[in-house]
Amino acid sequence: MENYLEKHLEMQIYCSNLAMNLDELKLSGMSHFFQLQSHDEALHQRRITNYLLQNSEQIYRKGIEFSFSKKKTGLDCLEEYLEKRTEFLKLTNELCESAMKNQDHLTYNFYNWFLQDYYEEIDEINTFIDKIYLDEKNYFNVNEMMGKREDVAVSPVVTPFAPHNFD
Ligand SMILES: [Fe+2]
Repeated sequence: MENYLEKHLEMQIYCSNLAMNLDELKLSGMSHFFQLQSHDEALHQRRITNYLLQNSEQIYRKGIEFSFSKKKTGLDCLEEYLEKRTEFLKLTNELCESAMKNQDHLTYNFYNWFLQDYYEEIDEINTFIDKIYLDEKNYFNVNEMMGKREDVAVSPVVTPFAPHNFD
């Protein structure tokens, strides 16, 4: 779970850098979306930390090595993010499987929330990518849509067994 926590920290920094990259490309709505996604990744870390603490497991963070390469278009940003999110879904699936093998049903349930969350996030990003292609690579509509993302409600995310809402 320590590795899972660090992977979320990496995603948090990555999303923050994507927000900077998109702002440089003059896509302020898309930049806003990824600023909020960076916050969401921080909240995921709190969910994991709370679960560990409730099980009396302490993890001291060490920080991570991180590199970021700037992208030339908004589409490149979304497509790379989609790739990373899909890898994350795969990793979560593997962790679910190993919890199940260890007959640790509680941890299995804990990871399940993340599976649903990434499924939903991947679906949303795919919708944005499709829209850009439908608009013949004009970003006006997607930039507007992504700029309307609202702040995440904190407590349903950071509470280890709060249910996932599909709304
Ligand atoms: Fe999330």
